[in-house]
Amino acid sequence: MILKGQMILVTGASRGIGKACARRCAEEGASVVLVARDGDKLEEVRNSLPGSGHLVVPADLQNPEESVPNLFDAACADGVKLTGLVHAAGIGVSAPATVASMKSMLESFTVNYFSFMLMVRHFIRKKYSDGGSIVAVSSVAAVAGWKGVSVYAGTKGALNASVRSLAIELADRGVRVNAVLPSNIKTEMLESLSLITGEDAVQRVEAKQPLGFGDAEDVANAVIFLLNPASRFITGSSLTVDGGYTAM
Ligand SMILES: NC(=O)c1ccc[n+]([C@@H]2O[C@H](COP(=O)([O-])OP(=O)(O)OC[C@H]3O[C@@H](n4cnc5c(N)ncnc54)[C@H](OP(=O)(O)O)[C@@H]3O)[C@@H](O)[C@H]2O)c1
Repeated sequence: MILKGQMILVTGASRGIGKACARRCAEEGASVVLVARDGDKLEEVRNSLPGSGHLVVPADLQNPEESVPNLFDAACADGVKLTGLVHAAGIGVSAPATVASMKSMLESFTVNYFSFMLMVRHFIRKKYSDGGSIVAVSSVAAVAGWKGVSVYAGTKGALNASVRSLAIELADRGVRVNAVLPSNIKTEMLESLSLITGEDAVQRVEAKQPLGFGDAEDVANAVIFLLNPASRFITGSSLTVDGGYTAM
């Protein structure tokens, strides 16, 4: 129960990596604020979690200027304060840069990056936390090229770059900021990627991961470590969780 007594906001909690993070947080004793657009799925996740005090806050991070203040107010009603923030909501590959529209590029940056920056700005306010640990779910796409993912990679590279500076800016406030960089993990996002790039391409990628494709829990376990006070001397880092992909 290494997160006992903590209150952790997890975006993307309706499925995949965010859902696994929410479950692992709850298993380790935390109460979880579950955020995504699909309120019904979030209720299902909440009902499946051990422990108590979990909240469902449906929000569309495509519109963060409106949704982020609202979701922090909902999460921290009655004077509750957050101790952690995990940004796992994300939009996967939409189209290669050669054909991606400005609209789709802005949508990817809004959900994957800008909403994170707005959430950090809220998290550090005394009304919402007294410090804590922030974890951005980035991607190895930020550090290793792959055909067709240049826009997505840009959103994740922006996250990694900001995590380093945020760690320095926020150290005095008792806030640590880190990123995890998963490679290919078995979620719906990977399934939709295989529809775009083809099953053969996905199999070629799997062959490049010495440990094969990971599970959402593999990423969640790294996130739990960064939320846990045992990682209290780690900030500004980008932890690869990639089955050896970038070691090749
Ligand atoms: N799977 C991989 O191989 C892989 C590899 C590297 C990095 N990642 C990163 O890991 C994170 C999670 O990926 P995943 O594989 O779990 O993806 P996923 O299964 O597609 O889940 C994406 C999550 O983001 C939420 N979301 C999407 N758009 C949103 C919006 N506008 N507002 C609020 N929530 C929104 C979705 O919930 P709703 O639809 O209910 O809103 C869902 O909970 C992403 O940041 C992704 O880039 C994944």
